[in-house]
Amino acid sequence: MTCPVNMTVLPEVTAFFDPATNTISYVVKDPKSDACAIVDSVMDIDYAAGRISYQHADEIIAFVEKHRLRVEWLIETHVHADHLSAAPYIQDKLGGKLGIGANITIVQETFGKIFNEGTEFQRDGSQFDRLFEDGDTYTIGTMPAVAMHTPGHTPACMTHVIGNTAFVGDTLFMPDGGSARADFPGGDAGELYDSIQKVLALPDAMRLFMCHDYGPNGRDIQWETTVGDEKAHNIHVGGGATREAFVKMREARDATLGMPKLIIPSLQVNMRAGELPPPDATGKRFLKVPVNVL
Ligand SMILES: [Fe+2]
Repeated sequence: MTCPVNMTVLPEVTAFFDPATNTISYVVKDPKSDACAIVDSVMDIDYAAGRISYQHADEIIAFVEKHRLRVEWLIETHVHADHLSAAPYIQDKLGGKLGIGANITIVQETFGKIFNEGTEFQRDGSQFDRLFEDGDTYTIGTMPAVAMHTPGHTPACMTHVIGNTAFVGDTLFMPDGGSARADFPGGDAGELYDSIQKVLALPDAMRLFMCHDYGPNGRDIQWETTVGDEKAHNIHVGGGATREAFVKMREARDATLGMPKLIIPSLQVNMRAGELPPPDATGKRFLKVPVNVL
């Protein structure tokens, strides 16, 4: 699809960096109203202790309350494998509709099997308020927004284009970080290349916001760049790298990567839209560790 873009709409973007998972969450505010969206929130977990908390989410909640904003949307760019979403916690306090890509159903099917979930785990995306298809539009106050399907890292990845900003999830990293891995179940390096080309077809001046940054080569953490900058300088896809070369590089590199530290709790929670698994007969909640499966 050709993405309908309005570069004259200028969202006010505030970033919240989570040093424990190198995730960046965003509050995206309409300059003409009190409406905002929250993109990719983080729930804190001490996995060794099996303890969750909400310090990072509380910072975002405090910001929204201080500026008297109205949350219309909670957006997940994809089912993250490296951090747990705090969307239901924030939704409970601030409201807003929770949205993710429609292919969440594929992710739920895949990981429902991997975690041997029972039939009470719905694989139809019904845990979310809105399932975005490619090209679906919505509004945040007076701002037009469009969801662009950008699979490859995962089947359900979406890039959200809001005025002159785009939230790319893990479709791209900063130019010196390249791209995200494409080897999780349902990932595909060729699809990721095609999705990156969709993002790079947006106007050069489009502001791009990353979901992660790891400060390669010791530089400070950064999360904002532009389409023009990525096209010129991205170490994996800049300067017109071919699909074939990208796939070869990505697959070779992915073969060397270990699993993210939090993949096991992250998937079990994020495929449930950020909810923990339901309590057992004793009222306690448990996360599973599938042995020799991932
Ligand atoms: Fe991711």
